[in-house]
Amino acid sequence: KKIFNITVLPGDGIGPEVVEQAVRVLETISASSADFELKLSSHDFGGCAIDSTGQALPDSTLKACQGADAILMGSVGGPKWSSGKVRPEQGLLTLRKTLGLYANIRPASFASSSLVDISPLKPEIAAGTNIIVVRELIGGLYFGERKEQDVGPNPDTAWDTMVYSVEEVKRITRVAAKIALAANPPLPITSVDKANVLASSRLWRKVVTETLKEEYPQLKLEHQLVDSAAMIIVANPKKLNGVILTENMFGDILSDETSVLVGSLGLLPSASLAGAPKTDFAPGEKPPSGLYEPIHGSAPDIAGQGIANPIGTILSAAMLLRYSLGLEKHAQAVEAAVRKALDSKANGGLGLRSRDLGGASTSREIGDSIRPAAAGPFS
Ligand code: NAD
Ligand code: IPM
Ligand code: MN
Repeated sequence: KKIFNITVLPGDGIGPEVVEQAVRVLETISASSADFELKLSSHDFGGCAIDSTGQALPDSTLKACQGADAILMGSVGGPKWSSGKVRPEQGLLTLRKTLGLYANIRPASFASSSLVDISPLKPEIAAGTNIIVVRELIGGLYFGERKEQDVGPNPDTAWDTMVYSVEEVKRITRVAAKIALAANPPLPITSVDKANVLASSRLWRKVVTETLKEEYPQLKLEHQLVDSAAMIIVANPKKLNGVILTENMFGDILSDETSVLVGSLGLLPSASLAGAPKTDFAPGEKPPSGLYEPIHGSAPDIAGQGIANPIGTILSAAMLLRYSLGLEKHAQAVEAAVRKALDSKANGGLGLRSRDLGGASTSREIGDSIRPAAAGPFS
């Protein structure tokens, strides 16, 4: 039996609540397979790790991540740690950087057509939205030089710097191109920047343009300034159907915005990889590891109530099965099970819905309904 080691980082707030449901889905899949076993082990990370060890990313947790076939994470942070010297969020940034996970993939489409009514946009504007945000994850403002807050209690200035090198832009452009080419017909790419103001964006736009022209001339490329991109996402999102290629902070902001138009922040998964995602593996080829997490945070306002939407995390587990374990059929079964739960006869025919989707289903009820179906059978 093949053994896959998965490091699980529940984190803070609703993190443990949503991760529990995804873990139960993975355990069900493992128990029903004769070919492989998923070995899951949980580790302290984020605020809870600061409480127990003083560090957001303890060495033992980092080691467990480095040795794993894949990592499943919930979310970190919360008011308890927001004014401390050690920050949970810094642990996440260090983890992404240390593992070289520069490509963050955040697909946003309707997980079920029944969710079109939940969108805050008119159904005719929202229906058919299908956007994959490809976010550069270990550069830009998040990692440039900054004046740390702890230089004194009342600094009179503070700064962060947005830095990109040609090589950093090239490699994320190639990831976007490979994702665009994996679709038939290939997806158009919209590169989002602020080239009318920022020098780093002018470099970004030049390198994206040249790289695609030289290496992928068949792909359609448009450029959009980030302010108008934010507007188009709510005015006419289908205009951006395809791949949105953008730098770290713009991708962070635009992906939260995009999530709501296809239902809720609680629904969107993500994969963070050290290269382009791949699904066709030669026999014996080992898929690359990656970090899989919902795009939302620890939601302190609803933590502890058992009502968080676990679907973003469960769909992240599906991406984990696909890209880091090479289990495409199992990934599809999880996605189909999510659709089935959302489409079920529960809630007067509206499907199983947590509170963010206007329903009253608990995290556990949603996990319970997805779990058995996710285990197959496979066609
Ligand atoms: P958030 O994403 O935690 O919450 C924003 C809103 O969306 C809240 O009203 C919340 O209740 C709701 N929400 C989020 N996920 C949900 C789910 N699964 N089901 C139902 N509702 C959901 O953003 P925030 O409140 O700005 O941040 C809270 C903390 O989380 C901060 O410390 C922040 O740094 C951290 N954070 C962590 C991550 C991560 O770990 N990847 C991501 C974003 C924010
Ligand atoms: C996300 C989060 C993180 C980010 C924070 C918690 C560091 O918002 O994963 O989207 O900004 O990348
Ligand atoms: Mn975010």
